[in-house]
Amino acid sequence: MIVYAEQIRGYGPAAPVPVLQWEPEFGALLALYRERSPRRVLEVGTYHGGTLYHWLTNARDGTTVVSLDRYSEGIDNRGMYRGWCPDGVSVVALEGDSHDETVAAQVAAYGPFDWVWIDAGHYYPEVKRDWELYGSMCAPGGIVCFHDILPASVEHPEIEVERLWRELQASGYRTEEIIADPAVSWGGIGIVHV
Ligand SMILES: C[S@@+](CC[C@H](N)C(=O)[O-])C[C@H]1O[C@@H](n2cnc3c(N)ncnc32)[C@H](O)[C@@H]1O
Repeated sequence: MIVYAEQIRGYGPAAPVPVLQWEPEFGALLALYRERSPRRVLEVGTYHGGTLYHWLTNARDGTTVVSLDRYSEGIDNRGMYRGWCPDGVSVVALEGDSHDETVAAQVAAYGPFDWVWIDAGHYYPEVKRDWELYGSMCAPGGIVCFHDILPASVEHPEIEVERLWRELQASGYRTEEIIADPAVSWGGIGIVHV
């Protein structure tokens, strides 16, 4: 099991629950989110709900945000999610293993999505499977974002997202990176234009 050393600390931007993001990176991504104003949003990997909070509070009227998590880390803030929805915004909180095809079918019922955020399992086979299952639910013109594209570090050897990230870049997708500090042991956001 991965131990989330940050689980008692929030980073930013400010939210009522911890946000496991570097504030400058996630702030830049949120600016893009507001600009694109997606109507169908998918988050794979919610944990405390810090990033979900920002998808919801920055969404425009008519948006549906689907959150998927297996809730296996002893944190479950699902009771708070509805209270974060502005008028006209709805949230669907699904529980299950993202690699379970029955769960993926439940998610697909709300797609296609124009904004997909993948931040669940960080080992290469885990994130690769999430990309295969949920990247394919992204509508043409939409984007898929990955957290933790920085190379694995001594502190976080379990973060292997970079390997998939390099593969996606090499395969010809238009991509963007948001990296506040390449020297830190985790972080970095990668955006794939589908
Ligand atoms: C890094 S945390 C998400 C952090 C959150 N996005 C944030 O930035 O505040 C990853 C979450 O994904 C969940 N997770 C990991 N693998 C999963 C899987 N295969 N299916 C569903 N949830 C998973 C973990 O239990 C954890 O709650």
